[in-house]
Amino acid sequence: MRSSEPTLHGKVALVTGAARGQGRAHALRLARDGADVVAIDICGSVSESITYPPANSEDLAETRRLVEETGRKVLAREVDIRDLAALQAVVADTVEQFGRLDVLVANAGVLSWARLFEMSEEQWDTVVDVNLNGTWRTVRAAVPAMIEAGNGGSIVIVSSSAGLKATPGNGHYSASKHGLVGLTNALALEVGEYGIRVNSIHPYSVDTPMIDPDAMMKLFAEYPSFLHSFPPVPYRPATRDGSDGRSGFMSPDEVADIVAWLASPASGSTTGNQIAVDAGALKY
Ligand SMILES: NC(=O)c1ccc[n+]([C@@H]2O[C@H](COP(=O)([O-])OP(=O)(O)OC[C@H]3O[C@@H](n4cnc5c(N)ncnc54)[C@H](O)[C@@H]3O)[C@@H](O)[C@H]2O)c1
Repeated sequence: MRSSEPTLHGKVALVTGAARGQGRAHALRLARDGADVVAIDICGSVSESITYPPANSEDLAETRRLVEETGRKVLAREVDIRDLAALQAVVADTVEQFGRLDVLVANAGVLSWARLFEMSEEQWDTVVDVNLNGTWRTVRAAVPAMIEAGNGGSIVIVSSSAGLKATPGNGHYSASKHGLVGLTNALALEVGEYGIRVNSIHPYSVDTPMIDPDAMMKLFAEYPSFLHSFPPVPYRPATRDGSDGRSGFMSPDEVADIVAWLASPASGSTTGNQIAVDAGALKY
């Protein structure tokens, strides 16, 4: 007999980069599946080398409101994932308020554009420091609390299609996201004995503010051969949420479906894996 209880009833999920975009979709989806949510985001500029608009405090407040609307509890905090002490303080507050931590979605990340041999140190350092070092700091802060709680759990590391293939024009981003594959797989072996699973997801072309069409068009105009590395997605659902499915982008909700599956017992035998969320684009 199937239980009508939500799959994550009684669980607690921490999502980084939760103010908007995919992180907000993950926070909401996990709440709808029954989890209380810890939503963290820098809510401000990461570096002047990041040219698309930053998330702000109102964005995180809206995530909080939407999660509360589901009936779940939420702890929302403005934290930079480059700050280990601040992450550890949030995790300590999580355990104090909710008593446990079961699901971690390490989603916060940034992107900029330039050829590797021309980009500034600031561009390289920012992308690697947030996407790779910040994700490690997130893991460093959260995993001891997950082990201590003794309930096992699931960690979803948000990489990218650029973590599985070359992406000319954002090689620093690709390097940082490839680094997350090594982090994911080593961590999966280290925490398996505690009943914790670790997988990376590799989305492609998701409709969020990170996708800056002007910056991309400028690059492709200058280096037309780079365009081959950024094909349109081959598969689109005929209809989803009333859209005609022709935009060429995936929606954050489609990625959240995969995160929810990885967080749930339905993916219970899956760890140390790289899950493409690409609508087939990586096959080009
Ligand atoms: N949009 C895409 O096509 C795409 C494709 C593949 C992977 N990704 C990855 O998905 C993740 C989510 O990105 P998105 O598309 O939702 O973009 P987004 O810019 O809308 O969201 C990223 C969020 O992370 C936050 N953030 C950035 N740096 C932070 C820091 N140092 N500390 C705390 N929070 C920080 C931002 O404020 C923002 O709210 C990122 O890791 C990104 O690299 C995006």
